[in-house]
Amino acid sequence: MVPAMAPRKIIIDTDPGQDDAVAILLALASREELDVLGITAVAGNVPLALTQRNARIVCELAGRPDMRVFAGADAPIHRALVTAEHVHGKTGLDGPPVPDPDMDLQAQNAVDFIIETLMEHPPGTVTLVPIGPLTNIALAFEKAPEIVPRVAEIVLMGGAYFEVGNITPAAEFNIYVDPEAAEIVFKSGVPLVVMPLDVTHKALTSRARVEAFRAMGTETGRMVAAWTDFFERFDMEKYGSEGAPLHDPCTIAYLLKPDLFSGRHINVAIETQSDLTRGMTVADWWRVTDRAPNAMFIGDLDAEGYFALLTERLARLP
Ligand code: RIB
Ligand code: CA
Repeated sequence: MVPAMAPRKIIIDTDPGQDDAVAILLALASREELDVLGITAVAGNVPLALTQRNARIVCELAGRPDMRVFAGADAPIHRALVTAEHVHGKTGLDGPPVPDPDMDLQAQNAVDFIIETLMEHPPGTVTLVPIGPLTNIALAFEKAPEIVPRVAEIVLMGGAYFEVGNITPAAEFNIYVDPEAAEIVFKSGVPLVVMPLDVTHKALTSRARVEAFRAMGTETGRMVAAWTDFFERFDMEKYGSEGAPLHDPCTIAYLLKPDLFSGRHINVAIETQSDLTRGMTVADWWRVTDRAPNAMFIGDLDAEGYFALLTERLARLP
């Protein structure tokens, strides 16, 4: 009998956002494999007051009012906040109306929680999963550089190369909002797994996939289907696609089933100087430079397998 692996300890850093919500639900439904030490909210899709509220709503939906949710940065390090209500709606979780959460927000700042957690746990045992702008992660690295070598790995959603940008012609939203923070993270030396639009745009919902959520007959299934219905209208109109990309759950799915994904270990640099291309992830996919590889840049996934995993795991929740 092979002893079960101990659950992987993770911190999810997030700006919910309907797709963030599905990522959090997937993680909380996978307790044999993932030990979510805490959820840290960052300003992104909507302002911080809403992202920290939304993170708590999702935890309650998952039946986890015990989960610790922390609020972090309310703006990028050096720039004004850019939000995405046009995609996620005014609340960030538009779709069905949801009541305010009952569970408390933790008093500790998210950045201090990230630092404290990395210092408390042995080096190489905590994985960071940022699925919004990288402000909290960068601030933690700047405030306490000693935590950087202690991070096991960062599995993030952000960037784009062949798929080009979604918020500007050159940049993907999470990187665009705080390119200086992204530069700190991409230059940190921490092992990176990057889920760019190149792969998340292949993780498209469809009527059948959304109906599979709804057919669960649970509150979680009903909410995920309703959030996806709302969230997909923007991408379907913009790209003429059948469904919407479920971006953020790709990070959690990778932690659960890495074989669903494929990519290349390459150099990825962040544009921070140009107004025209700010936030572009310059991925050396063809290795034409001598810049050292710093990221596993994911380009493809088994979409059927991804949605099968999502459906199977979300069905575990109430
Ligand atoms: O560009 C997609 C990313 O931006 C996703 O993380 C989505 O939630 C938004 O934050
Ligand atoms: Ca997000």
